[in-house]
Amino acid sequence: MVTGASGGIGAEIARELSDRGWNLILTARSEGALQALARELRARDGILAQVVPMDLADPSGPEALEEATEGTGLPVDLLVNNAGFGEFGSFLEGELDRKMGMVQVNVAALTELSWRFAAAMAGRGGGRILNVASTAAFQPGPGMAVYYATKAYVLSLSEGLRVEFRDAGISVTTLCPGPTATGFQEEAGMGNSGLLTLLPAPGAREVARFGVEAALKGKGVAIPGWVNRLLVLGVRFTPRRILPDLVYRIQRSRV
Ligand SMILES: NC(=O)c1ccc[n+]([C@@H]2O[C@H](COP(=O)([O-])OP(=O)(O)OC[C@H]3O[C@@H](n4cnc5c(N)ncnc54)[C@H](OP(=O)(O)O)[C@@H]3O)[C@@H](O)[C@H]2O)c1
Repeated sequence: MVTGASGGIGAEIARELSDRGWNLILTARSEGALQALARELRARDGILAQVVPMDLADPSGPEALEEATEGTGLPVDLLVNNAGFGEFGSFLEGELDRKMGMVQVNVAALTELSWRFAAAMAGRGGGRILNVASTAAFQPGPGMAVYYATKAYVLSLSEGLRVEFRDAGISVTTLCPGPTATGFQEEAGMGNSGLLTLLPAPGAREVARFGVEAALKGKGVAIPGWVNRLLVLGVRFTPRRILPDLVYRIQRSRV
């Protein structure tokens, strides 16, 4: 099952899995886009592709999604928690609802879906979880502080669960993309990020392939692109007290 499969990295993850013969449950809010992708993948690869529209900002979404997947007849052996969004701007700008919705989708829904589907995987003797975090997970992000914090949570939870689930035969992989050209930037109100054009960043398909391969190999943390890996390495060697100011400068240069 791929959450956030209606576009961007999620749709490309679905295409990568379909290429490898996986049957798919596709979920997001945009039913039309999900149906079009399901038709494309059925025709191209002859897989079973089921669509379950769901709003994960609704706290009842994850449970409803689990119930709906039971009706598809497809057991979830691989859960891809990809749905997520960001918001550019200082903490007190914008609506509180949007920030709380971000925490609900990026953090709460991902946690609940991991719990619900891992329990079923453990009962079947194993499975795989691919959680989509970000290179934002490795440092605080003034100017986009809530988003960065949600992704730090995803990375921390995933690395913790990876150890806990080992004996149950469930691998947990965290995909940490850097800036990737998708609908994300527009949704987050980021304008045209210089980072997207200045740095040799991998595209959504490449990011998806990297993540799927890492998940199928049972890898831990997967950072696509050498520039992103270098930046994350740089963060490790940068004193924590100057890091937030550095990030703030980069964030402000984005609009
Ligand atoms: N693009 C980047 O630069 C970048 C970098 C690092 C990490 N990421 C992460 O990669 C993941 C995918 O993002 P993307 O870049 O592919 O952005 P995107 O093109 O905007 O896709 C986001 C996906 O999440 C779904 N989604 C958003 N809100 C939802 C909700 N309330 N309920 C259910 N689904 C919802 C969207 O579907 P609907 O709108 O149809 O619901 C869409 O399918 C996110 O977790 C993001 O944080 C992105």
